[in-house]
Amino acid sequence: QIVDADGLVLLPGLVDLHTHLREPGREDAETVYSGTRAAAKGGYTAVCAMANSYPVADTAGVVEQVAALGKAAGYADVQPIGAVSIGLEGKQLAEIGAMAHSAAKVRMFSDDGHCVSDPILMRRALEYVRTFGGLIAQHAEEPRLTEGAQMNEGAVSAELGLPGWPAVAEEAIIARDVLLAEYTGARVHFCHVSTARSVDIIREAKARGAKVTAEVCPHHLLLTDEAARTYDPVYKVNPPLRRESDVAVLRGALAEGVIDAVATDHAPHAPQDKDCEWAAARPGMLGLETALSITVLALGGPAGADWDAVAERTSRTPARIAGLEAHGRDPQPGTEANFTLVDPAATWTVVPEGLASLSRNTPYAGMELPVTVQATFLRGRATVLNGKIEEETTE
Ligand code: NCD
Ligand code: ZN
Ligand code: ZN
Repeated sequence: QIVDADGLVLLPGLVDLHTHLREPGREDAETVYSGTRAAAKGGYTAVCAMANSYPVADTAGVVEQVAALGKAAGYADVQPIGAVSIGLEGKQLAEIGAMAHSAAKVRMFSDDGHCVSDPILMRRALEYVRTFGGLIAQHAEEPRLTEGAQMNEGAVSAELGLPGWPAVAEEAIIARDVLLAEYTGARVHFCHVSTARSVDIIREAKARGAKVTAEVCPHHLLLTDEAARTYDPVYKVNPPLRRESDVAVLRGALAEGVIDAVATDHAPHAPQDKDCEWAAARPGMLGLETALSITVLALGGPAGADWDAVAERTSRTPARIAGLEAHGRDPQPGTEANFTLVDPAATWTVVPEGLASLSRNTPYAGMELPVTVQATFLRGRATVLNGKIEEETTE
């Protein structure tokens, strides 16, 4: 294929460390097929599929199923994340070795499967990944401190009379697992970091040499808890949208590299789970098709964009964290290239009905965003060309 890339920016294919593909179990909200098409549209060539499917990805069978569905779809490499535990109590370790040695070659294990925060289990899981290789993707939430929570705890929640999600529910787990990471010598990656204090804890941990990394979501780089005043459930998300001051600190930490990567936490939800009152709605918002635009905004806007920083935070570093060696590299002669071409001067308006995702719960509906994805190539084959998804991707 010959592509006219005049005026376009070449990026290594984007890598998402945190995608909810909803298959198996909630194929009405997303499937591996629809979710990876959304990924390609957003410039991604690889996604890590979060473990909270139904059934949860806590056995070799489920992770192999997800990986096989990804391969069959052909739109992005799908790297399943395994759950650290099995069962609702969350006290029993999952067979991490079996998932690691399965055809899915799982390297990341998360408590965002069965939402658990048991420290004994976490210590054992860390000891396992130290032995088998890989890392823990820590969901960074103490669920006992967020029971009944509806939005960020603060001045706005007090005014609206909605129960708050305290920042300390996130910070306490991050602090604990920094210490457990140092104690065990294992690697921990903190998911969806959303508060200024979390950033401080991670900065200090890194300065001591702890093997920790962290991601931030696009929505936490742009939106605040003021959005809850609309009572529109599209703004309900876990962790919740925080304060303006948190947004500023997160942006700074991303530019600086204290936060290593942007991850979407793409969380599609079916209409009945969002078109309802705030309290009944599930938390989560779409992310794959808008993440690059929001990242560019957060890193200085399209005119002053530091494209090397964009490549670093959306591709090279997440590829390194996930151990996805074929990704996060500039195309080299003789290798199958994973890359994306973006138009830095173009803008687009987010129309929910026009998204490739099966779901419609984007908080950016009607917004004009910078930067369009013109083409995405997975192993040398176009998944997106001239801004359109290719219908044939597999031989
Ligand atoms: C996640 C989902 O929908 O799976 N939602 C979200 O708001 N991030 C689960 C979760 O993290 O609560
Ligand atoms: Zn989560
Ligand atoms: Zn998530």
